[in-house]
Amino acid sequence: MTDPDRPGATPTHRTPLPPPRTGGRYRIAVVCLGNICRSPIGQVVLTEHVDRAGLSDRVEVVSAGTGGWHVGHPMDRRAATVLTAHGYDASQHRATQFEATWFDEHDLVLAMDGSNHADLTDVAPGGDVSRLRMFRDFDPRADDGDRDVPDPYFGDEDGFGSVLATVERTAAALVAALEAELGRG
Ligand code: 4NP
Repeated sequence: MTDPDRPGATPTHRTPLPPPRTGGRYRIAVVCLGNICRSPIGQVVLTEHVDRAGLSDRVEVVSAGTGGWHVGHPMDRRAATVLTAHGYDASQHRATQFEATWFDEHDLVLAMDGSNHADLTDVAPGGDVSRLRMFRDFDPRADDGDRDVPDPYFGDEDGFGSVLATVERTAAALVAALEAELGRG
């Protein structure tokens, strides 16, 4: 029997990864609204999965928010708490605002929800969204109608645990896709 959640089992990513640009590491930007909840969790967890896969010399992960309200702030206390409880280091994060030039400087831009995707599409230079994907395009459990990582900011702590579970499962599948795209070297 095939386990659909096992990274690399059946097609875990329905959308192909953008090809690497020549030279340097494959650069991934994870983007949400405020860059204090979802995308920092995405950055920390994806970076850990990249490290564990031995890909840290070939892949780097950053994050940003489409909004600038929290620039320079650490991540939301609830996001840091859930990450720390699961063994991740949440201490290094400082919020950054996405800039349109990031499209030219990154191989892959990942939007956490449909609103983030729309905002990123609006600023993409020349309307080129060929490197833009939904984060959950790589979630083996996402059905065709649902690609959002719901915004937990105005909810309770449970929402953060749910974001972490979604991000961990998606990060595992994304790293499997990266291994396939970049080779195991
Ligand atoms: P995030 O969550 O986009 O996952 O970082 C939010 C953080 C801050 C706000 C909204 C969402 N805010 O309105 O300040």
